[in-house]
Amino acid sequence: MTTFTPKNLPLKHTIETTKVLKKAISANRALAKLNGVAKIIPNSTILINSLVLQEAKDSSEIENIITTHDELYRASLDISSVTNETKEVQNYQQALLKGFDLIKENKLLLKKYIIDIQQELEQNDAGVRKQSGTVLKNAKTGEVVFTPPQDYQVIQDLLDNIEQYINEPNDIDPLINMAIIHYQFETIHPFYDGNGRTGRIINILYLILKDLLDIPILYMSRYIINHKADYYRLLQEVRTEDKWEEWILYMLDGVEQTSLETIELINGIHSLMNETKDEIKGKLPKIYSKDLIEILFMHPYTKIEFLVDSLGVTRQTASRYLKELETIGVMESIQIKNSKFFINKELFSMLQKSI
Ligand SMILES: Nc1ncnc2c1ncn2[C@@H]1O[C@H](COP(=O)(O)OP(=O)(O)OP(=O)(O)O)[C@@H](O)[C@H]1O
Ligand SMILES: [Mg+2]
Repeated sequence: MTTFTPKNLPLKHTIETTKVLKKAISANRALAKLNGVAKIIPNSTILINSLVLQEAKDSSEIENIITTHDELYRASLDISSVTNETKEVQNYQQALLKGFDLIKENKLLLKKYIIDIQQELEQNDAGVRKQSGTVLKNAKTGEVVFTPPQDYQVIQDLLDNIEQYINEPNDIDPLINMAIIHYQFETIHPFYDGNGRTGRIINILYLILKDLLDIPILYMSRYIINHKADYYRLLQEVRTEDKWEEWILYMLDGVEQTSLETIELINGIHSLMNETKDEIKGKLPKIYSKDLIEILFMHPYTKIEFLVDSLGVTRQTASRYLKELETIGVMESIQIKNSKFFINKELFSMLQKSI
């Protein structure tokens, strides 16, 4: 078994070709625009909630863990028995949010956080690979594509090196660095499982660490799903042919395209919030408040308790508000088990269709 051990970072040769630098400019521009546009949504939880869930679903789909939006929304409210797939997607969401908290608090992305994130994702404490035998296979043919380092100490040393590379400043564009780090992490392949998903979480955390994003809202999993064969091929060609340019361009294009698509989605949510506001102000002026609109967009499913908690009204009042909102067609009620829930249908279908 011939193992392939990546060299320590930084790379010894320049990969900032004219093509790469040009693409980095447009990718950075799109990302900066996304970061700005996100601020038009008044409460950042609204975007974080909906986009993290979207990403958890898509990223898990790369690993063939498939669930539906509806199942996920219901599961997050504890109103349905949760399937294994949905549970895994929820674990991804938890792992990502945990990473976001760690970065916000510590302004560092340490090796031990990466291990924590993978643990949260996989819900086991296997940690860094100790036993040999992990190989990467072509999913279709079963043929071994490459064998990552097998020695525990070698893996640990490579992780120390990537930790240093992530946290210490250098003069390479952060988006190019993100592509380098993703390649390096997937090639170290430090865990028995969950390397792809952990690597994708590192991408987003890295952008936050480098101040390119304030909140976690750029998710490339949909792009990777749509260009999956290229994703595997290009990673592998860096290993076998030292072919960096195409790989970096692929990742930069992913940042650019995903930023532009996410901007559309955010603009859509924003318009919908405004329309809903006008509708309520016009037809139910007595119950209108800014906070009410925010709650209706915090989650596609709303329940009476949410209004009680955040508006400080009684159950009776909250229940009346939701009924009135249903009468004017802003919300639609459904009965699940013993509880009544109200769906923001327009938001629901927007999130389902998006990205
Ligand atoms: N044929 C391949 N060529 C190149 N890289 C590969 C190949 N197969 C897998 N990889 C890399 O390994 C990752 C999968 O590793 P692992 O199964 O540990 O992670 P995961 O999170 O469980 O899976 P996934 O990325 O599919 O969601 C991929 O995301 C990719 O980065
Ligand atoms: Mg796997």
